[in-house]
Amino acid sequence: MRIVRAKDYNDMSRKAANILSAQVIMKPNCVLGLATGSTPIGTYAQLVEWYNKGDLDFSNVTTVNLDEYKGLNRENDQSYYYFMNEHLFSKVNVNHERTFLPDGTEKDSEKACADYNQIIEDVGGVDLQLLGLGHNGHIGFNEPGDVFKAKTHCVDLTETTIKANQRFFASIDDVPRQAYTMGIQTIMQARKILVVVSGEDKAGIVKEAFFGPITPKVQASVLQLHPDVTVVADEAALSLVK
Ligand code: GLP
Repeated sequence: MRIVRAKDYNDMSRKAANILSAQVIMKPNCVLGLATGSTPIGTYAQLVEWYNKGDLDFSNVTTVNLDEYKGLNRENDQSYYYFMNEHLFSKVNVNHERTFLPDGTEKDSEKACADYNQIIEDVGGVDLQLLGLGHNGHIGFNEPGDVFKAKTHCVDLTETTIKANQRFFASIDDVPRQAYTMGIQTIMQARKILVVVSGEDKAGIVKEAFFGPITPKVQASVLQLHPDVTVVADEAALSLVK
């Protein structure tokens, strides 16, 4: 595991965008695994800027996102599809037919998950997976538990996650209680992984996840076993790590 220390959020975003750009330049038809949350917003903004300068071409890129809320459609401004469209897809020349997320409108969880597993298999797996880090150590929506779930599954979001995501919704009652998320095995099968973390409020979980024991109680801790992980974190997020 490589830890890259960034000065602040902007520096973290630029460094992470550099790694994603390198992937796209070296393999123009790569599969990018993408993430939502507030942390990668600056990374996407930087990619858009470089795209506008003519330095990046997404025309042959395929994307698969980590997760989607169950019950939200693509037009809902809180859906992860909407987020991705807003921050990246509508702003670069990616082929929209090659951008995939779990189908939040599919009520049959088993079908939604099986379909998404099939999509990931059909695109040939993920070359570079971008991840944010939840306050409780979740990656995607793989919440703390007794096991690492392998493939795409439907999760009941924890109270911590519902509260953390409340800021994006009109009220806590509007926050969906369930989501479809890529599983840990799929994430671990990505050829490269890039984690972005920012802020002092993540310092404790950074220490636990990347320097503590590997346990499903802190799902991100499993990343310590992956052969090619880069964590780009700002000084505040690394403040508890020597
Ligand atoms: C959300 C997403 C995760 C994200 C995490 C952290 O619930 N499902 O993919 O990494 O929470 O979000 P933030 O970057 O806003 O702290």
